[in-house]
Amino acid sequence: MAGGGFVSNSAPLRHYEGGMTVFVLVSCIVAATGGLIFGYDIGISGGVTSMAPFLKKFFPSVFRKAATAKGNDYCKFDSQILTAFTSSLYIAGLVSALSASSVTRAFGRKVSMVTGGLSFLIGSALNGAAVNVAMLIIGRIMLGFGVGFANQAVPIYLSEMAPPKWRGGLNTGFQLFIGIGVLTANLINYGTAKIDGWGWRLSLGLAAVPAVIMTLGSLTLPDTPNSLIERGQLDKAKAMLQRIRGTPNVEAELEDLVEASATSKMVDQPFRNILKRQYRPQFVMALLIPFFQQLTGINVIAFYAPVLFKTIGFKSDAALMSAVILGVVNLVSIVISIFFVDKYGRRFLFLQGGIQMVICQIIISAILGVKLGTSGNGGLPKGYADFMVVAICLYAAGFGWSWGPLSWLVPSEIFPLEIRSAGQSINVAVNLITTFIFSQVFLSMLCHFKYGIFLFYAGWVVIMTLFVYFFVPETKNVGMEEMTRVWAEHWFWRRWAPPHQPKTADINIDVEMVNGKHHDQKQGTPQQTFQ
Ligand code: BGC
Repeated sequence: MAGGGFVSNSAPLRHYEGGMTVFVLVSCIVAATGGLIFGYDIGISGGVTSMAPFLKKFFPSVFRKAATAKGNDYCKFDSQILTAFTSSLYIAGLVSALSASSVTRAFGRKVSMVTGGLSFLIGSALNGAAVNVAMLIIGRIMLGFGVGFANQAVPIYLSEMAPPKWRGGLNTGFQLFIGIGVLTANLINYGTAKIDGWGWRLSLGLAAVPAVIMTLGSLTLPDTPNSLIERGQLDKAKAMLQRIRGTPNVEAELEDLVEASATSKMVDQPFRNILKRQYRPQFVMALLIPFFQQLTGINVIAFYAPVLFKTIGFKSDAALMSAVILGVVNLVSIVISIFFVDKYGRRFLFLQGGIQMVICQIIISAILGVKLGTSGNGGLPKGYADFMVVAICLYAAGFGWSWGPLSWLVPSEIFPLEIRSAGQSINVAVNLITTFIFSQVFLSMLCHFKYGIFLFYAGWVVIMTLFVYFFVPETKNVGMEEMTRVWAEHWFWRRWAPPHQPKTADINIDVEMVNGKHHDQKQGTPQQTFQ
């Protein structure tokens, strides 16, 4: 690499020579279990709310409606209080994600993760032991606080611990653990549905297992060097960096961490920064990508897959089994995404996945419309029901390698340093708000739109696919420091983006992220992108 002057003091290769160490790998796996808990929560509630003893105990009117199966089958699970049970987690998660940011900053990522784990534990105990709806919902709020803290702290933790060239893979581990959590929950529901009377208690109470894993795991985790520096513990930070990079040669990186921390402290109001005209493209992405992700309809499938399968005539067992199949498909598709995302690019996966989802949604809607009509009564003939499961699986696979992981990946790579934290907060907040709204209204929508609900989501997937085609630039293999280029060269966004300053051949580029810190070093001149 080009050396010289300034650069030789902080040579990138020396900087990042530390590779993946067992210590980092284990730390990141433990931290990523935050995703496991999020996924467990997503997966467990749908199954539990289709269990007769659970409905009978807490939502007797829903139970009676479902049991007599009079009236419209699309409407038999329609109950605001039932959806409130599912949705309360998201509201609590939203509030706590916002407050967790200051805890994470002042006390470290580890403290936030332990707090999240403990909150999960309390929530799972309350849910497992619930004797009335209030206990159920309070328990769910505690779980939501846990999710908020975990989702706020874990991705930051992973980012800070990971060696730069493994950062993408280790972060994707978070989404993978979400998928594992969903699948585990579905498997547990499949088993506990067979236990008469109290199976639901086991399903809800077993959330304690990932909660304990996370709490104990987090207690054993080291804090990130970035966080240690942020809290003034420079010696500890240096020792930690040496340990996680597997090399004593960490001086330059340490300097950069100190510098990044100092610089980031100069910005009080990143939320105001992101509103500046020059960040319009990124701001729009921060709003629309998570919003669109939820409008794929994925969570209505995840939350209510068993209810949905039951509505179309599956027996209780078959409903849970179908959800298990969906979970496996989801997991496999995330793994496929890990291998393909840097090869074929984000746009290809977005567009391919979008088209696949639209086709599947139209097929699902057509089968339901033709075979069940608007009453939803009667169940599907076997052949059609099987075809339906295949279409739903292909839909889930399309999501699993496109909007699932990409909705976390793309926003995380497009924000320049000065607006990165604000951008990520907006991304998470929009994700949770949209999840909340749609889980709250889904059962009513199913009741009113009937099979047309899938056309509603298909319409949105068409819109978002066109949005990607026209407005989302390819970010594959673009260094984060070079990302301004993709906006400056984009046919639409270039009117907002500041002109990209091309780097000349003799410029040494070292683009690495350390705690959101960019190093973009010209010969002899440190370039700080911070304004
Ligand atoms: C989404 C969640 C969703 C999950 C499904 C995540 O990327 O943000 O809302 O439930 O994927 O696996």
